[in-house]
Amino acid sequence: MNTSSGRNYVIGPFNQIVTLSGLSLKGPLPDDQLQIISNGGVIINDGIIEKIGNFEDLRSFYSHLPVELISGPAVLLPSMVDCHTHICYAGSRAQDYNLKLQGFSYVDIAKQGGGIWRTVLSTRDADEQTLTEGILARVERHLNQGVTTIEIKSGYGLSGPHELKMLRAIHSASSQSKASLVPTFLGAHTVPHDFDGSPKDYLYYLSTMVLPLIAKEKLCNRVDIFIEETAFGEPEAEQYLEHAKKYGFDLTVHADQFTAGGSEVAVKLGALSADHLEASGDREIEMLSKSNTVAVVLPGASLGLGIGFAPARQLLDAGCCLAIASDWNPGSAPMGDILLQAAVMGMYEKLSAAETFSGLTFRAAAALGLHDRGKIEVGYKAHLMAFPTSDYREILYHQGSMKPFNVWC
Ligand code: NIG
Ligand code: FE
Repeated sequence: MNTSSGRNYVIGPFNQIVTLSGLSLKGPLPDDQLQIISNGGVIINDGIIEKIGNFEDLRSFYSHLPVELISGPAVLLPSMVDCHTHICYAGSRAQDYNLKLQGFSYVDIAKQGGGIWRTVLSTRDADEQTLTEGILARVERHLNQGVTTIEIKSGYGLSGPHELKMLRAIHSASSQSKASLVPTFLGAHTVPHDFDGSPKDYLYYLSTMVLPLIAKEKLCNRVDIFIEETAFGEPEAEQYLEHAKKYGFDLTVHADQFTAGGSEVAVKLGALSADHLEASGDREIEMLSKSNTVAVVLPGASLGLGIGFAPARQLLDAGCCLAIASDWNPGSAPMGDILLQAAVMGMYEKLSAAETFSGLTFRAAAALGLHDRGKIEVGYKAHLMAFPTSDYREILYHQGSMKPFNVWC
């Protein structure tokens, strides 16, 4: 792991630099659109990409600059953006996983008091410091695997004080890590068992008692809600999101995971992203394709639950902006290996390498409202990863088992 800020230097040579430059934000991307620079190098100036070109040319024109020499085969790509995780938590859900192996569904387990509630109890028991340490350990693992921007949701506190504790832990981790961490408030993950009232009452509580505190303490500027039978219905979710929007929060939605509905709310409210989409049908796909809401698919949740993948191919063909994220969480997606998940889903859904890498980089950044990373272009952040191969096609071929040997952040 290299910290690229505060220095001006050349890195290379790379057999290939896959820049992802010139690729559109929405729709299908055949691999022949990939810009590949052979024998390339990059000049990084204070953490920003200053020049990209032939390594020997850069080295001779800018001979005063120090060189970080890469030896052996190497392919350079923008490092990854994981735009959907729940890695602030305590405890394990191995018990739930075992029930799933016996055939109980995610919804069955939630109804029996397992699921999210199990993690809420252990997360409430943990202090802020413990949560921070857990986040830092998971962030470090992600960083080493080439993920340098990581969205992290709250949502296992489910009361004002515990949700604020989670957001503060994310902030504290952010100040101690080289990764860019993006916090999201997911107080509306599910109605806590100890709340006396309806889902609508709970959302009213969040709107009036918790959102103002988050805004005041500037703990995050994003709000998420889980729209689903076991969580919140569309009308009350819409009202809640309207309120959050008026407060100035960006919106994102856990949508169409088991039943369709959430994506329509996401599009209507102009959410940055609608995430999951395993249950999206033609109607939802068409709505998403006509919007600027990024369709975020979460193959790790399909693998963790043993259910089908979201219709990634169809979403792309309809013209959506498709991002791929890990959903790393203790319940539905405990693996947290985003490259492996994307590679496996890519084979089932027939995604080109250009589509998979774009979904893991600049398209995922767009889901977070970030347009300064995820491509190797002048002016972009020098968030980069290098793989030990001379051919970029080897990366997905290894189905996630080939890891970057160097990450710049
Ligand atoms: O994205 N669907 C809702 N939330 C998470 C699961 C969280 C959990 O089970 O702890 C998800 O899959
Ligand atoms: Fe999630």
